[in-house]
Amino acid sequence: MKLAVAGKGGVGKTTICAWLADYLARMGEDVWLVDADTALSLGPALGLDEDKTPVPLVQQKALIQERVGTGGFINMNPKVDDLIARLSVEVRERLHLLVMGTIAGAGSGCGCAPNALLKALLVHLVFQSSQHLLVDLEAGVEHLGRGTITKVDGLIVVSEPSLRALNTAAQISALATDLGLKKQVLVLNRAGNDFSLPETKPLPGLAARFPSFSSLENKQQISPSVLDLPERDAIDGLCKKILQF
Ligand SMILES: Nc1ncnc2c1ncn2[C@@H]1O[C@H](COP(=O)(O)OP(=O)(O)OP(=O)(O)O)[C@@H](O)[C@H]1O
Ligand SMILES: [Mg+2]
Repeated sequence: MKLAVAGKGGVGKTTICAWLADYLARMGEDVWLVDADTALSLGPALGLDEDKTPVPLVQQKALIQERVGTGGFINMNPKVDDLIARLSVEVRERLHLLVMGTIAGAGSGCGCAPNALLKALLVHLVFQSSQHLLVDLEAGVEHLGRGTITKVDGLIVVSEPSLRALNTAAQISALATDLGLKKQVLVLNRAGNDFSLPETKPLPGLAARFPSFSSLENKQQISPSVLDLPERDAIDGLCKKILQF
């Protein structure tokens, strides 16, 4: 399954991406994670040492120039098959991380060249095999217009139980629908069972509802990792629900 995870800033996209990947890897599945956020926090969320995190693709100017060129002529179909091994790291058995970063982080005008390489690499990852792919997206809606994720099978829209987060979720969902991404699910994070979704908002179907975990809040004070919480079985159950939705 190839999925992207989107939502407003800080709602828990990276955390849920890490939980899904960790669950799948423990179930014996091969998982590729793509960090497509400027904050580059997916590695640390998986417990990966900072010095082991690969240099984001968007920062590799020489490589971008070599593969797609810059200026007037951009090769929209660059060679990427050798780049996966070069740009990724094995976090642990079955769990691979590829750090792309975002176009905003590339620091170059329109970002066409890095975007072309990023897109080609994602498309290659989507089509390369039957492995699972999870893309942790930048917060908000703007990146959707760049079309980098149009080839994934589905979109997980994460939201907190707040009107602003749900507004962003609805916007993301509408844009993704326009892009042809019809398979979408909503995941509520840090939500109590008493919260009911506003019926007026055009939101994807609710696949799971994660409560707020005080164990995670406490853990984050001493570690960037979001894994190995005492509630792991409950989290696994919710991940399973999301993947079956
Ligand atoms: N269910 C939860 N219970 C307690 N803490 C949580 C929960 N989900 C996420 N958090 C905490 O909230 C913070 C933000 O989560 P996270 O980084 O996953 O959000 P994000 O949407 O990826 O943010 P950004 O938009 O900056 O990429 C983290 O410190 C994370 O540990
Ligand atoms: Mg994040």
